[in-house]
Amino acid sequence: MESTTEYKILFVCLGNICRSPSAEAVMKKLVRDAGLQDRFEIDSAGLIGYHEGEPADSRMRAHASRRGYSLDSISRPVRMSDFYHFDLIIGMDDSNIDKLKQMAPDLESEAKVRRMTDFCCNKLYDYVPDPYYSGAEGFELVLDLLEDACAGLLASLVPPCS
Ligand code: 4NP
Repeated sequence: MESTTEYKILFVCLGNICRSPSAEAVMKKLVRDAGLQDRFEIDSAGLIGYHEGEPADSRMRAHASRRGYSLDSISRPVRMSDFYHFDLIIGMDDSNIDKLKQMAPDLESEAKVRRMTDFCCNKLYDYVPDPYYSGAEGFELVLDLLEDACAGLLASLVPPCS
């Protein structure tokens, strides 16, 4: 059955095992804490299918868990139907955004493609760096950026006290 939620958001990165599952978990927690879970559908996907069926990266899960996030999504590739189903398709870096725009089946769905860091209010970054080959600080930076961007995203959709 077609979902009737007001806001359908898909977060996208390359492998769907580090950045986008974290964005999904951070956004879900913010929405749940605000009592808005019935108004949102939140999911994540990757541009490569290499990790399809796998849980999020264990390092990413460990760092997220220390901040109270549970990463329980299973990696899946972006599907063409995502471009029709979701209202916002949010990429983590230039490469994600270029590939999503190439995949978009029409102008309406291309316009749904946004950049995660455009929603940041405090951090001055124009992409969320891939932490896969980084050390602990890379995973912490991902979470710092996602917490800032998801708060900005939620405020842009549902202004406080609305
Ligand atoms: P993500 O990180 O895009 O944030 O999930 C990566 C995970 C896996 C690979 C690259 C980036 N990989 O090449 O397998």
